[in-house]
Amino acid sequence: MNLPPVLGAATSAFQIEGGREDGKGQSIWDTFSDEGRLADRGDTACDHYHRYQEDVDLLKGFDAYRMSIAWTRVLPEGTGEVNQKGLDFYRRLIDELLDSGVDPWVTLFHWDLPQALQDRGGWANRETVDAFVRYAEVVVEALGDRVKNWISHNEPWVYATLGHIEGVFAPGITDWQTGLAVAHHVLLSHGKAVPVLKERGGSVGPALDCRPSRPATPDDEAANTHFDGFRNRWYFDPVFGKGYPADIEETYRELGRWDGSLVQAGDLDTIATPIDFLGINYYTSIEIRAGSEESEVGKVAPGPGPPPGYTEMGWEITPAALTEFLQRVDREYSPASIVITENGASYSDGVEDQRRIDYLQQHLDAVSVARDSGVPVDGYFVWSLMDNLEWVSGFTQRFGLIDVDFDTQVRSPKASYHWYRNLIANR
Ligand code: FCB
Repeated sequence: MNLPPVLGAATSAFQIEGGREDGKGQSIWDTFSDEGRLADRGDTACDHYHRYQEDVDLLKGFDAYRMSIAWTRVLPEGTGEVNQKGLDFYRRLIDELLDSGVDPWVTLFHWDLPQALQDRGGWANRETVDAFVRYAEVVVEALGDRVKNWISHNEPWVYATLGHIEGVFAPGITDWQTGLAVAHHVLLSHGKAVPVLKERGGSVGPALDCRPSRPATPDDEAANTHFDGFRNRWYFDPVFGKGYPADIEETYRELGRWDGSLVQAGDLDTIATPIDFLGINYYTSIEIRAGSEESEVGKVAPGPGPPPGYTEMGWEITPAALTEFLQRVDREYSPASIVITENGASYSDGVEDQRRIDYLQQHLDAVSVARDSGVPVDGYFVWSLMDNLEWVSGFTQRFGLIDVDFDTQVRSPKASYHWYRNLIANR
C-alpha cells in the first residue's frame, strides 16, 4: 500500500471534552443539549477535559492527532476577555501530545460557536468574521510555538446547511438566505484567518466535507450536476479562486435564496487566499435521481443493523468514489497537498470491530490508488480516536477506534485500534 506519510486520528472538542467549568462559556451546542435536542446530553461526553492524559497515552504510536479548540473555553463570550484557564488546558494537552511524539493538528472551528455570538446573529452576521480572526490571533499567540498544522473550519457545508437550512443541527435555523450568508461568512473568515495562522510558521487548510454523487440514469444528469454544485462546488470553487459556481448562483437567485448582495468587493479574493493543504472529510457518496431531495440527510438505514454495504449511519460504503473524488480535486483545483482530515465508520460492534477494519482498509486502499496516480494525499485521519457524542445522535453512533463506556468512562481499545497502530508501526 502506498500510504500517506502522516497517519492519525481525529476528534472535536464538543464531542469529547465535557468539562463545562473553569470559565468555559456557553456554545450553541451546549444550548442545543440543554434544550434536550440531542439523543444524549453533552455535558460530560468522554470527560476528556479530565482524562486527557489517559487519552494521549492511547495516542502513542500515532503520527498525529487532529483535535479542535472550543472557542468558548478561550473566549467565553466569543469576543472580549480571554479565559487563561482555557488556554492553559490546551497548552497542557498539546505539551502532553508533543512529549508523546504525536503531532497536534488543531481545528479552530468545529461548529461550537459561542452562544453570545449567536445571540447577535451568529455567522449570518458579518461581525462574526472579525471575532473569528481575533480568536485565531489569541490561539496562535498562545499555542503557535507548539502547533504547526492548523485547520480553520470543519465542514462548512454541514455547518451552514444542517444548522441553518435544515435546522437539525445547532443553532436550529431553517432559512436558505441565512444558511448561504453563514456559508459565505465562514468561507470569508477562513481566508482572513489564513495569514494569521501562518504567522508563526504554521501550515493552514480548511477541512471541507464532500459528497461525491452519480446520476442514477442518464436522465438524472442535470439533477446530479445541481446536487454536486449545491453540495461540493459551492465550497471548493471559491476556496480555489473560481468564485461561486454560476449555475448554482442562477438557481439560487431564481428561488430567492441568494441575491449575492452580501459578497463585498474583495471577498472572493480573500476566500481564495492560498492554503498549504486541502483537508477533505470523506464518508460516503450518493446516487441522485431527478426530483429527489437536495440534501441526503435523514436517509438512515432501517432496521436493527445496517444492511451489508452500509454503516450504521445509513451511509453507503463506496471507497472507489473516494479515489475518483481525489483525482477530480487534483485535476480541477490542483491543491499542493491534500489531507484526509476525516474518514471512518459507525458500528456498534464493541471491541471486535472487524467491519470497521474492513472499512478503513478499503478507504486506505482507495487513498493509496489515488497516490499511485499522482494525487498528493499527504495525510489521513480516522474519525474517530474514540466513541463520542455524535451530535444529535448522542452516544448511539460509535465511530471510535477505542470503545468508551459512557457510564464509567472506561476506555477499551478495539481490534481496529490495534490493527491501525500496527499498520503505522510496520509501514
Ligand atoms: C462529520 C463531523 C464529525 C463527525 C463525523 C461522523 O460530519 O465533522 O464531527 O461527527 O461527521
